[in-house]
Amino acid sequence: MPHRGGNMAFSKMTTKKLVEKKAAGQKIITITSYDYSFAKLVDQSNIDLILVGDSLSMVVLGNKTTLQVTMDEMIHHTTAVARGVTNALIVGDMPFLSYKVDIKDAVYNAGRFIQAGAEAVKIEGGTEVTPIINALLANDIPVMGHIGLTPQAVYKFGGNLVQGRTAETAKKLIIDAKNLEKVGVFSIVLESIPWQIAKIITETVTIPTIGIGAGPYCDGQILVIHDMLGIFTDFKPKFLKYFAKVGESIKQAMEDYRTEVENLTYPDLEHSYEYPEDDLAEVTDWVQNADIDQEAEKVFEKQKK
Ligand code: KIV
Repeated sequence: MPHRGGNMAFSKMTTKKLVEKKAAGQKIITITSYDYSFAKLVDQSNIDLILVGDSLSMVVLGNKTTLQVTMDEMIHHTTAVARGVTNALIVGDMPFLSYKVDIKDAVYNAGRFIQAGAEAVKIEGGTEVTPIINALLANDIPVMGHIGLTPQAVYKFGGNLVQGRTAETAKKLIIDAKNLEKVGVFSIVLESIPWQIAKIITETVTIPTIGIGAGPYCDGQILVIHDMLGIFTDFKPKFLKYFAKVGESIKQAMEDYRTEVENLTYPDLEHSYEYPEDDLAEVTDWVQNADIDQEAEKVFEKQKK
């Protein structure tokens, strides 16, 4: 079903179509979202894939890392996103402790994302997570991989550090990508790795690579929406570009709102409801002549009975 009128018919994205986009040499455009209103705007902008990222932990919930967000919180937000999306492929990001502890839990938790409206899940990790991916795929749940700087391993890495900067770690990333492809992920996020290594990986696998801090040669790109809109500005990684200054617009709007309320400029009568002029006399006469305290007391006593 076409998304809307006009020349451009943009239809429902699927994991299969994403792989076809790579084969056709078309870039894949993806972004995170965490609620109905953002997801709807994103979907109306012909974005291919929406990730309900565990970055939610930081940019929406205000935690210091992604590690604190729970399954229940992720599901809550995935449900809201799904309500706003018609065409983009929705991917739920499996949070810390939801898939590596126990494979049965992984399948169950991934299933919760699907029931909430996601059409695939993303998990972090390389060759070591292939048994989990096998189990998810065996339960008909499409999986997106994620290698490089995997934020759930921030303490193992000792910080949000660029990965794959030595021959040994770069080769490991290439091997991990190959093994993720082999078990059947439909796409792989490459986060914070040198562009040359991302380029090699992209040329080595037939499934799309989606880069974030991985240079221009990935098949697609992803950014955290609150980052790229300039809403979340607690820190700015090298790869991040602000595509708008929404945070500044919000602060300006708050300033204008406060000033206009203080100056009695807002609300004016244009933004107010009108009482029918002919009937107004009845109310004003009543206010002048009735004992309002007594009238109020009567109604109050009556509702107590
Ligand atoms: O949680 C997230 O937003 C992510 C993207 C940065 C890929 O995992």
